[in-house]
Amino acid sequence: ATSVPADDRVPDMGKRQLMNLLLLGAISLPTAGMLVPYASFFAPPGSGGAGGGTVAKDALGNDVKASEWLKTHGPGDRTLVQGLKGDPTYLVVENDKTLATFGINAVCTHLGCVVPWNAAENKFICPCHGSQYNNQGRVVRGPAPLSLALAHADVDDGNVVLVPWVETDFRTGEAPWWA
Ligand code: FES
Repeated sequence: ATSVPADDRVPDMGKRQLMNLLLLGAISLPTAGMLVPYASFFAPPGSGGAGGGTVAKDALGNDVKASEWLKTHGPGDRTLVQGLKGDPTYLVVENDKTLATFGINAVCTHLGCVVPWNAAENKFICPCHGSQYNNQGRVVRGPAPLSLALAHADVDDGNVVLVPWVETDFRTGEAPWWA
């Protein structure tokens, strides 16, 4: 008899699926929240959400106003705000004193430390295991396997709004690994 009776297979499959789910849940707990803005991104406009965007919050928990931010953050500045899913995200001030249209998620793609900006080195350098990212968050030294995630940084009603980045990663020309 080479065929396995269906009765024997079904519980096995069920068990395996459950194990997979548990495993997936354990691994992707931090990223599970991503599904919420991602899902609302596809919700029809006017359905009540902010189109999947989240107003950036400063260290005090206040909404970040673009004009105020630019008064206190000069060219080249990279400062953390609270972004999508509450992830620490860098707002970038370009050399022409405008806000970059992208924010950089500060969570190291190695094991998740928050990566500080090192202005002197013009890089993000992870204190945990030494991974390095260029000034746009593109990985330039491991062990981190991937570049830092991006988010769109839009200005809406004066507020800086972070929106999930689902397009090509302009730094690598590849599909975004985080979307
Ligand atoms: Fe950043 Fe390991 S967590 S290098």
